Amino acid sequence: MKLRKVGTSMDVQGKRVLVRIDANVPIVKGRAVDGPHGRIARSAVDINWLSQRGAKVIVMTHLGRPNGRRVAAYSVKPVAKRLSSLLGTPIEVTRTVTGKDVDKFIAKMGQGDVLLLENLRFDRREEENAPSFAEALAKFGDLYINDAFSVSHRAHASLDAITSFLPSYAGPLLATEISVLSKLEEHMKHPFSLMLGGLKMTTKFSIIERFLSKLDSLLVGGALANVFLVAQGKKVGKSVYETESIKSATRLLKKYAKKIVLPTDVVCVHSLRRDAKQVVKSVDQIGASDRIVDIGPATRKMFTQTLEGSKTILWNGPLGYCEIEEFCSGTRDVARAIAAQTGKATTIVGGGDTLPVIESLHLADRFTLLSTGGAAFLAFLSGESLPGIEALKI
Ligand code: 3PG
Repeated sequence: MKLRKVGTSMDVQGKRVLVRIDANVPIVKGRAVDGPHGRIARSAVDINWLSQRGAKVIVMTHLGRPNGRRVAAYSVKPVAKRLSSLLGTPIEVTRTVTGKDVDKFIAKMGQGDVLLLENLRFDRREEENAPSFAEALAKFGDLYINDAFSVSHRAHASLDAITSFLPSYAGPLLATEISVLSKLEEHMKHPFSLMLGGLKMTTKFSIIERFLSKLDSLLVGGALANVFLVAQGKKVGKSVYETESIKSATRLLKKYAKKIVLPTDVVCVHSLRRDAKQVVKSVDQIGASDRIVDIGPATRKMFTQTLEGSKTILWNGPLGYCEIEEFCSGTRDVARAIAAQTGKATTIVGGGDTLPVIESLHLADRFTLLSTGGAAFLAFLSGESLPGIEALKI
């Protein structure tokens, strides 16, 4: 896939560069939760690159889903704080998203300065992909860069319509993600293992469909595995699963029984408390009041052995209830196993819920690609076209 990319030969000095990033991270007590390899931290590298070359960098992002209204809890001020501490320079936030107020901020900017526009989604025209909104944004810049792979599956004005109004380029972070992901099929070496966890089968069904005929093993954990266990006629007690996906799971099991690897043992609790008593059970012995919260030791061993023998590994979604650290040790074990394979295998990891686990293990730079994308990652790998990416194709 060929994209118009930002290159070192590009002269940005004195130019107003509009950069779309995805700083959509959790905000807790007024602070942006973003680790050293988080979305904001990774975008900051490219913002810094532009600033060092004398550009006036006007950064745009959405935060949460304020539904076209100005909602104080979704102001991007905490994002500015985080960016500011990463770049070591003060960053102002505009009061409005478009209009004269923004013009005033931009008029004050010198070369190398960085400005952050208030949350794009405070204006309902963003999600409507409205040309009027895209044009209003485009007036602030001389050129536009999309460095937000993780939201490029949305046909929104700051990602799609804006490219009709300004010379538009893929930023380095986005370009790297696309390059690695699009080479996956071309250079897929076998054995190829796809490991999926998390809750929703509905969001993962397309990627399973796309890869099942090509892969060697589909390792399934988390609540996603529960659907398959139920489809096999097993009891899962009080564990969560998507009932609407049982039929799909049954069909996949019929067709690909040999490739689908499910947990054989699991960790069960009776309440979702960190001090709850954990009991390892075979998947044939789950009681009516059990909740599955992690994969068991035999399953960890089986998954790890499969991963150790793989040449291509793709992973999305935790294998346990990682909101509680005590129920995340299976996920941590497989994360370590995948990181150890990097070099011997292509290792690609994506999904917002997986990142905190990886960061807590200090493994973030130990994969071929740690994608910033969750839904965008799955959509791209499922073969869907992403509006934000389509707009940058040569
Ligand atoms: C994400 O976090 O996946 C992206 O920022 C997209 O957010 P959205 O699902 O609210 O569009």
